[in-house]
Amino acid sequence: GSSGPTICGLPLKYVSLITLAVQNAALAIVMHYSRISTPPALAYSPASAVLLNEILKGSISFVIALMNKHEASKMTRQNSGVWDTVRSLPISFWDLWGEIFSPDCWKLSIPAILYVVQNSLQFVAVSNLPVATFQVTYQMKILTTAAFSVALLRRTLSPMKWLSLLFLAFGVGIVQIQSSTSSSPIKDGPVGSAHDFHMHIMNPFKGFCAVTVACLTSGLAGVYFEMVLKGSKADLWVRNVQLSLFSLIPALMPIIYATPSNYSQGGILADLFRNFGLWAWATVGIQVFGGLVTAVVIKYSDNILKGFATSLSIIFSFLASVVLFEFTITPSFIIGASVVLVATWMYNQPPAQESALPGSLPGS
Ligand code: C5P
Repeated sequence: GSSGPTICGLPLKYVSLITLAVQNAALAIVMHYSRISTPPALAYSPASAVLLNEILKGSISFVIALMNKHEASKMTRQNSGVWDTVRSLPISFWDLWGEIFSPDCWKLSIPAILYVVQNSLQFVAVSNLPVATFQVTYQMKILTTAAFSVALLRRTLSPMKWLSLLFLAFGVGIVQIQSSTSSSPIKDGPVGSAHDFHMHIMNPFKGFCAVTVACLTSGLAGVYFEMVLKGSKADLWVRNVQLSLFSLIPALMPIIYATPSNYSQGGILADLFRNFGLWAWATVGIQVFGGLVTAVVIKYSDNILKGFATSLSIIFSFLASVVLFEFTITPSFIIGASVVLVATWMYNQPPAQESALPGSLPGS
C-alpha cells in the first residue's frame, strides 16, 4: 500500500532506514576493532565470519518464513488448539520447502555470489583503512546503486533526485577531505600495543581497491535483489532463505580451498573458529541484523533511499568516534554532514510533477 506496515505507529519504511543507519555505523566500528585489536597471528578468519553470517541469516529468515506460513494457514483453519498447531506445523514446513526450492530459486544465485564477494571484501577494506575513511568511501555505492537502478530497473530519476545525488556525493567528499587531512588520521582505535603493531601492515591502496569493487557488487546485488523481489509475489523471507542457501557455495569455497588436508587435533570446527572472540561474534551479530534490515528496506523502500540511510551512518560513526576515540569534529565535517542531510531531505521530497497534469504544477 501507499503507507505500508507500521511499528509503534511509525512507518516501517522509516524505522528500518534509521535502524540501518545506526547498524551501519556500529558495524564499521565493531568490525574494524575486531580486526585491529589483535596481532595478525591471533586474528579470526573472515571467511568463517562470512559463512556464519549466511547460516545465521538464512536460519532466522527460515523461522520467520515458517511463522508467516503458519499464520496464513491459521486463517483458513477454524480451531487453533495446541494440538492443531503442532499437527499443522509439518504441513506449513512442507509448503515452505516447496516454495524455497521453487523453479525460479536460481535467480538468487547471482546476488548471492555478489554479496559474498562484497562481504569478504568488506573485511579487506576495514582491515586496511581507518574507520572514517572506509565509511566515507563506501558511500560511493550510492552512485553505483543509482546507476544500476536506472540501467536494470529502468527507474527514471527526476532532475531533483539527480541533483540530490550530486549533493550527496559532494557532501561525502567534504567529509572525506576532513578525514584525510586530519592531523592524526589513525585515531580510529584505542591505542594499544596490538593496535599500533597492526597499523604498520595496513595497506590503504589495497583497502581502496577492495572498497571500489565492494561498491560495484553492492550496487548490482542490491538492485538485482530488488528486481527479483518486486518482480514476483514470493515472500521476502523465502527470498532471503534462497539467497543464503546460494551464498553457502561461494562462502564455503575459500574455506575448502584454504583448509589444510591435515586438520589440527581440534578438527575442522576448531580450525574454523580459531580466535573467534567476543568482537568477532559481535561483528557477525551486527552483520546478520544488518542483512535482515537491509532486506526489509529493499522491500518497503528502495535501494537508492537505502544509500541515503547509510550515508547518515557517517554522522553516527563520527559521533561515536568522538566519544570512543576522542575524534575532534571540524567545521568541514559539520558542513559535509549538513550537505548530506539536505541531500537526503531533497531526495525525499514528493515528486510534484507526477501527480499533476502537464503544465499545471501544484502551488506548493
Ligand atoms: O550496504 P549494502 O546494501 O551494500 O550491504 C548489503 C548487505 O546486506 C550485505 O552484507 C548483504 O549480505 C546483506 N543482505 C542480506 N539480505 C538481503 C540483502 C542484503 O543479507 N536480502
